[in-house]
Amino acid sequence: MSNYHIKHLEEYYQVYRKSVRNPEGFWEEIAEEHFLWRKKWDKVLSWDFSKPEVKWFEGAQLNITENCIDRHLATRGEKTAILFEPNNPDEAAQHITYNELYKRVNKFANVLKVQGINKGDRVCIYLPMIPELAVSVLACARIGAIHSVVFAGFSSTALSTRINDSDCKMVLTSDGSYRGAKTIDLKGIVDEALESCPGVKSVLVAKRINTEINMVSGRDAWLQPLLDNASEHCDAELMNAEDPLFILYTSGSTGKPKGMVHTTAGYMVYTAYTFKNVFQYRENDVYWCTADIGWITGHSYIVYGPLVNGATSVMFEGVPSYPDFGRFWDIVQKHKVNQFYTAPTAIRALAKQGAELVEKYDLSSLKVLGSVGEPINEEAWHWYNDNVGKRNSPIVDTWWQTETGGIMISPIPYSTPTKPTYATLPFIGIQPALMDENGDELKDNQVEGRLCIKYPWPSIARTIWGNHQRYKETYFSAYENKYFTGDGALRDEVGYYRITGRVDDVIIVSGHNLGTAPIEDAVNEHPAVAESAIVGFPHDVKGSALYGYVTLKDTGESRDQNNLRKEINQIITESIGPIAKLDKIQFTSGLPKTRSGKIMRRILRKIAQKDTANLGDTSTLLNPEVVQEIMDNVL
Ligand code: WT7
Repeated sequence: MSNYHIKHLEEYYQVYRKSVRNPEGFWEEIAEEHFLWRKKWDKVLSWDFSKPEVKWFEGAQLNITENCIDRHLATRGEKTAILFEPNNPDEAAQHITYNELYKRVNKFANVLKVQGINKGDRVCIYLPMIPELAVSVLACARIGAIHSVVFAGFSSTALSTRINDSDCKMVLTSDGSYRGAKTIDLKGIVDEALESCPGVKSVLVAKRINTEINMVSGRDAWLQPLLDNASEHCDAELMNAEDPLFILYTSGSTGKPKGMVHTTAGYMVYTAYTFKNVFQYRENDVYWCTADIGWITGHSYIVYGPLVNGATSVMFEGVPSYPDFGRFWDIVQKHKVNQFYTAPTAIRALAKQGAELVEKYDLSSLKVLGSVGEPINEEAWHWYNDNVGKRNSPIVDTWWQTETGGIMISPIPYSTPTKPTYATLPFIGIQPALMDENGDELKDNQVEGRLCIKYPWPSIARTIWGNHQRYKETYFSAYENKYFTGDGALRDEVGYYRITGRVDDVIIVSGHNLGTAPIEDAVNEHPAVAESAIVGFPHDVKGSALYGYVTLKDTGESRDQNNLRKEINQIITESIGPIAKLDKIQFTSGLPKTRSGKIMRRILRKIAQKDTANLGDTSTLLNPEVVQEIMDNVL
């Protein structure tokens, strides 16, 4: 039972060396020992980054749902697979066991079949964070249909673009959703989207908020009666290792969203193995990832990774602020959560509320804290460590991407000593490279460059749906024979990586290369600052100068803005140098964010550059209203 569960740093180095000396041998051993195959592979790996083409476990046959569900029934049938915590804390949580999950997935799979869905068909899932979302994802996988989950916070235009791009035949949705104190009319959004989606033949609707909705006859049907009539057994479709499992859209820096295609066997092996190690999951632990299944984090680390390992995975319908900002900690206490995985933006929002809300709850069950989605700034890291982990739960700052399918750089808790703002070491099997501006690899430590990956790992996305050429151009053309991540990173004296941010956010000031993330870190250290975003704008002498957007904590005090500006620049000068001082600082009530919480620097950059004629579509933002406020007050 070799290397499946790493327990100390020396073991990490040992296994890591093995995994890069002989990747095929290493992954073959993992695959052999920990999964259910209907047929083993003929070849572990073939690849050519110039085409680009990557194939793992070719010749193998399997169904991922047999790995997620069936094989656990004998030993874990009555164990909770999905622990559903509703939006409303007064509504009872649901403990869905592996036995029950089996029945629900099989029934759902049979409904899909009756509705004419076949292997290879695309099904769009536009559901809130209710059990039907996880169940329908698995039901698609059961019959070999390709799921395309669209986050149920996207607008109708964003939804229809995604439906049409991958020719989905069917949409799964609900009558509506709860989001804190609000309800959202999801079915109305679907109806609007489908006005421009001629390829969609049917819509199945889950009941969640019990409102009257419009049902289009011949197209729409309620899900529950169909499920009630369906059989509890559905043979799992035999899938080839490289058959597509799902499509998930991610926005590119330009152009329409990219439908990243993930395939079956490699994705399963890698998400399972990373889950086990990065969260040090043990039998009977309760694991909670606060992401939405509409993002890759939810696919890999709410659904597939945990379930392949027979884990208990919490699925939370609501938001961190409802009924108050103590909700996350309430849930941790209530379900005795052992591993908690969230995003820096959530941590900052909660930190802004003060530590009292955390102290009210018993968080002693926590063993591992995770962070994902953007660089975690030093202040947020310490707040998380001190107040949530009580300096007793290691923070795993996990760097990865929709395209990578699974976690790529991360500490292994209780093995890798953590370091604030550092994702630390490459995960087993991952071979990072930092590249300089001439396209040469930086081999030493204490260097900074563009982050690439030199060798395939099992869960790399295989293509962009319908556009292999774009896949090649975006990821494999910047550097020969390497996957280019689009991120910058530095490597410290012991080989730890710190992700400095997207390289498209790099700003050259008087010939100095400045990443925005470390400057934002410095700004955020000011006790009055809640959040900040820094962009470049044209400057006669320096080429580019720095423009900072800053939101302040609501302390009830009024502060002199010019003094604040001086103090902020003083902190920057101290932590980075005068070169990184901000020429302009605009105070604002909020920063424009994507639904996943990422600051939209592209918009902020255009405003700072006074180039607002073509801001692009701001309607899918979390808070489109702040854009106008920022434009009105631009300096
Ligand atoms: C981009 C990918 C991977 C799940 C969620 C985001 C940034 C992600 C970290 C981290 C610094 C991070 C990168 C990356 N990012 N995790 N731990 N530290 N940056 O997936 O939407 O595909 O975004 O998020 O810039 O390229 P995504």
